[in-house]
Amino acid sequence: MNDPLLNFEGKVALITGGSRGLGYQMAKALAARGADIIIASRKVDACEAVAEEVRAMGQRALAVGAHCGKWDEIDKLIEAAYAEFGHVDILINNAGMGPRMPSHEVPESLYDSVLNLNLKGPYRLASIIGQKMKTQGSGSILNISSIASLQPLAQVVPYSAAKAGLNAMTIGMAKEYAPHVRVNCICAGPFLTDIADAWTDEARQTADNALRRPGRPEEIVSAALYLLSDAASFSTGSVISVDGGT
Ligand SMILES: NC(=O)c1ccc[n+]([C@@H]2O[C@H](COP(=O)([O-])OP(=O)(O)OC[C@H]3O[C@@H](n4cnc5c(N)ncnc54)[C@H](OP(=O)(O)O)[C@@H]3O)[C@@H](O)[C@H]2O)c1
Repeated sequence: MNDPLLNFEGKVALITGGSRGLGYQMAKALAARGADIIIASRKVDACEAVAEEVRAMGQRALAVGAHCGKWDEIDKLIEAAYAEFGHVDILINNAGMGPRMPSHEVPESLYDSVLNLNLKGPYRLASIIGQKMKTQGSGSILNISSIASLQPLAQVVPYSAAKAGLNAMTIGMAKEYAPHVRVNCICAGPFLTDIADAWTDEARQTADNALRRPGRPEEIVSAALYLLSDAASFSTGSVISVDGGT
């Protein structure tokens, strides 16, 4: 908190999928360091519960129910955020999902939902908010991608492709909104969030990575804070892995 490089006082952070998992950890960590928080996901009650926690930490918070793969709902989310706070300094495109299914069985509707949530929604949020940040002269955007974007897996192909698109978007937008707005990306490895409920006991205890284990949700936080803060003032368009050494 005393380190000015990791001080977020006066900043407003919008986090998609902030109601649980990695998004929840990042929301709490930013609030603990002085940021006001906007949490968006489909279930507004779950967002409101996190907003209450943030308020109890002494920060302002807004909960918004929004499907983050749909541009009309995203536009309303952006409107609500600026109506409440007047500015957004940090955007974390975190909401995502990656169902496992043999590629030839994936129906068009599922393909579309995976691409919409992991790429099309983040594109809309980052482009509209990125442009506003450019006008305000500052801002930091973080996209939560996956190690599957770099080492695509069998049976998660639309997800791997969407996250690879998110990595490309990071680099393109870093150039487009520079020099005062930075855009970075974390490729997450396996983390023990709700996603892990569907894993086998073995997969929850061990992993095919150098550290031989999945990550604890809070282990995403330090890399996220670094990229979002002025500590990373010379980093933009970076795609870094937090994956236990895959
Ligand atoms: N955990 C892992 O092993 C892992 C590995 C690699 C990458 N990642 C990436 O990390 C990010 C966070 O994953 P996580 O494990 O924390 O996920 P999680 O625990 O399943 O949480 C997902 C969050 O996203 C929200 N969400 C889901 N669909 C949404 C939609 N259509 N619109 C708006 N919000 C939606 C959920 O809230 P609602 O249900 O209320 O909408 C929830 O807040 C994702 O982008 C994921 O792809 C995770």
